[in-house]
Amino acid sequence: MVLVLTREDIKRVFSMKDAIDAAKEALVIYSEGKSEVPLRVNLDIPKHGGQSLFMPAYIEDLEAVGVKIISIFPGNPQLGKPSAPAQMVLLDGRTGEVTAIINGTYLTQLRTGAVQGAATEALARKDAKVAALIGTGGQAATQLEAMLCVRDLKEVRVVGRDFEKTKAFAREMQGQLAAYNADIVPVERSEQAVDGADIITTVTTSRVPTFDGELVKEGAHVNGIGTYTPDARELDEAIITRADGIFFDTKEGVLEEAGDIIIPLKKGIISEKDFNGELGRVITGKIPGRLKDSDITLFKCVGMAALDLVAAHRVYNKAMEKGIGKQLEI
Ligand SMILES: NC(=O)c1ccc[n+]([C@@H]2O[C@H](COP(=O)([O-])OP(=O)(O)OC[C@H]3O[C@@H](n4cnc5c(N)ncnc54)[C@H](O)[C@@H]3O)[C@@H](O)[C@H]2O)c1
Repeated sequence: MVLVLTREDIKRVFSMKDAIDAAKEALVIYSEGKSEVPLRVNLDIPKHGGQSLFMPAYIEDLEAVGVKIISIFPGNPQLGKPSAPAQMVLLDGRTGEVTAIINGTYLTQLRTGAVQGAATEALARKDAKVAALIGTGGQAATQLEAMLCVRDLKEVRVVGRDFEKTKAFAREMQGQLAAYNADIVPVERSEQAVDGADIITTVTTSRVPTFDGELVKEGAHVNGIGTYTPDARELDEAIITRADGIFFDTKEGVLEEAGDIIIPLKKGIISEKDFNGELGRVITGKIPGRLKDSDITLFKCVGMAALDLVAAHRVYNKAMEKGIGKQLEI
């Protein structure tokens, strides 16, 4: 039997807090070398200008195997379809049988919000009150909720490229996330968003920096979530050089894919000595996180398959326990 779980099914069994706990476990498992995460296979589909990416992982301690299939087909919106459709296939590590197919689009949004939540929880000041969210796309809602989930924020300023869309997003989020009791405030420019912010999260498709790092206040925590190619960056050189602590989800992934770090590294503006290490090692206490209230901490993440696998495994177990989803004989 294969359990099929939709976005709504996942929401019924798995909260943002659950997702953050799963992300922490995945980060620790990865940093301790207890996961097999082979290189992602990228298959070009030139006929339709698309690409299909296959992200496998195996975690022996969980008896879990999985592969997320996520495609990037930029022409899809014209066909009324999402540009990045995704599904997660979960297997039983003891038998190799496929046990579940889980909505990969929502799982990705959840685990990407959650890994930022894990970083913000570990690195931001405990008394953080004001946050900034740059980007209002598919990933933005879970990024916003993750910040609200780990700190008692009174205000989150949101900025995108199109102010009308930003206002609509902020209105919708104010309703959806009302339980957190924070004001979600749309602003037109990133300067307004980051001025005085204690936490800043950028999650955009921008290829150039989305805010001026000189404007970031002392003591702030910054999350760079969006960029994943060596020639693009959301974070400028000012924030990279001002950061007192630089942390990654995976060092290997960031140094392979993230222009935010690769470009200043190549220019010699920073060196590997400036990197503190992986968040998983902060979580287990192997390396320190924030040292002083006045430090600026920075987290850069490009994502990895172990995050998907741990989240999928926990979602599956909870759904089975509660009888949620559709069981199919195939
Ligand atoms: N780190 C990870 O694990 C991870 C996981 C999933 C997605 N991502 C990446 O996150 C990024 C965002 O994903 P999405 O699904 O929300 O994309 P999307 O296309 O739905 O939205 C992109 C958003 O970026 C905004 N934007 C672009 N340039 C901007 C700029 N200069 N200033 C302010 N806003 C700007 C747009 O207005 C839009 O709101 C993508 O690059 C995606 O690949 C990262």
